[in-house]
Amino acid sequence: MLVNLRDITAIAEQNNMAIGAFNSPSLEAVRAAIDVAEKLGYPVIIDHAEGHESFVPLDSIGPVMVALAERSSAPVCVHLDHCEHLSYMRRALEMGFTGAMFDGSMLPYDRNVELGARAAEMCHDFDCGLECELGSMGKRENGAGHEDENVDTPDAIYTNPDDAVDFIEATNCDILAVSFGTVHGIYKGEPHLDFNVLSEIRKRTHTPLVMHGGSGVSDEDYHKAIDVGIRKVNYYTYGAKFAGERVRKVIKDYEEKEDGAIVYWHDMTMAAYDELCKTFEHVMQVFANGAGPIA
Ligand code: 13P
Repeated sequence: MLVNLRDITAIAEQNNMAIGAFNSPSLEAVRAAIDVAEKLGYPVIIDHAEGHESFVPLDSIGPVMVALAERSSAPVCVHLDHCEHLSYMRRALEMGFTGAMFDGSMLPYDRNVELGARAAEMCHDFDCGLECELGSMGKRENGAGHEDENVDTPDAIYTNPDDAVDFIEATNCDILAVSFGTVHGIYKGEPHLDFNVLSEIRKRTHTPLVMHGGSGVSDEDYHKAIDVGIRKVNYYTYGAKFAGERVRKVIKDYEEKEDGAIVYWHDMTMAAYDELCKTFEHVMQVFANGAGPIA
């Protein structure tokens, strides 16, 4: 069933767990996220990022995401990820999305507040929950953006707990993406997360918090982050990488089987779906943080 971002993060609050938010720029990814949620009995968030428009347009994948969420037995929130343009957000809301993120993290603070507040008003008119971002998680989910920003300059990018309180009040956003050491994309080394920053923000705001750059983090760090208030984990890069590696193996196996063997497109999509299911199953169990099936 299709559920609101506020309601799905409230389930996470009640159970001291996080909900996996999986970027789904293909039918295989949408199906894998929903199928695994149904199998395990956990709620799930499926994400379309504005930056993934070139992978698959919102107009094509959006209606599919909403239709599959509506008919699912699991609670599913259909969410717009890293949206920088309110006109694009409106299109997703009109399509039936139940969650949206306004990303003004590259803007000056005041402009981030101003546009975040406008996004909140628009989302709430559609009974949709809004996520905003304060701080920076390095380069974007499609590889663009703050390439050079990294955890070596934490003060420049980590979310300031005092600002977080003001920001939530001024924008009226429902949940907040915060920066405490995770980055989008492939980690160059071990991620070093600052749980003090996270716990300070949580103590002062009592708002569900979001971990971006959530793939590539250790299971232990997921648990620690959830215990101090992370309620949504955005997950993309490593799942896509594992699926890519599996497809490469499928091609190699065919090539070794016989000279001139044909590898069909459906062989690749089936392998990618299977690999995504395996990855999502593991991380959804980790994000449940010990909670049993809910849906
Ligand atoms: P990863 O690049 O770590 O998968 O993070 C995805 C993300 O945060 C999308 O918003």
